[in-house]
Amino acid sequence: MIKVEDLNKTYNKGKSFECHALKGISFTVDEGELVAIIGKSGAGKSTLLHILGAIDNYDGGSYRLNDTEVGELNQKKLAEFRNAHVGIILQDFALVEGYSVIENVMIPLRFSKTPRKEYKKLAMEALKQVGIDDLAEKDVNKLSGGQKQRVAIARAIVNNPDFILADEPTGALDTVTTEQIIDVFKQLNKAGKTVIIVTHDMQVAESCNRTITISDGLIA
Ligand SMILES: Nc1ncnc2c1ncn2[C@@H]1O[C@H](COP(=O)(O)OP(=O)(O)O)[C@@H](O)[C@H]1O
Ligand SMILES: [Mg+2]
Repeated sequence: MIKVEDLNKTYNKGKSFECHALKGISFTVDEGELVAIIGKSGAGKSTLLHILGAIDNYDGGSYRLNDTEVGELNQKKLAEFRNAHVGIILQDFALVEGYSVIENVMIPLRFSKTPRKEYKKLAMEALKQVGIDDLAEKDVNKLSGGQKQRVAIARAIVNNPDFILADEPTGALDTVTTEQIIDVFKQLNKAGKTVIIVTHDMQVAESCNRTITISDGLIA
């Protein structure tokens, strides 16, 4: 279970241009949930997602996954935490250009303890789950937006994380493709994954089982 209590985050603390992005956020997400975090641009959604993904720190309150207080982990333990628990899909796909689809999906495995000889099999399984195993050898530059997003999702799940975080995963997609990507998340959720999607797209939010609204760094 994810448990966030009175979470605070200030960028550029102490400087004249400091920004209090999260002002005391509390919520829990249970295993197996499909949750949307919604809110206007600048509300603090990405900040929250980056903290949940352990790629940014917080400066007040608590973020616990099961019994681990994530803020207390050192760099090495944080890296292990990310690898063991989190699959993150950042805004705008963040694929490595010039790599093939399967090469992109295999990247997280290099930071795990997975034996090298299993990379291909695991990457193909992830690609199958998102419905593009037939594109494995294709150059990512040659894919459509929806296909790129599927690659990003496959890369996020290849390490078999406990939960999946996605930041505006349909922001660059048309409505039909959005529907297809929502279906991919729904299927992953059905297969047992906890999924948290940050979005300002109501079509996406309505497809989730619960929404958490944040406004100006607070739960609305
Ligand atoms: N790296 C950063 N440095 C300074 N301020 C930031 C940084 N990232 C976000 N902010 C500020 O924090 C607030 C919340 O931003 P963000 O979490 O990106 O919102 P959202 O994803 O909901 O649009 C905004 O005021 C934004 O300008
Ligand atoms: Mg954002």
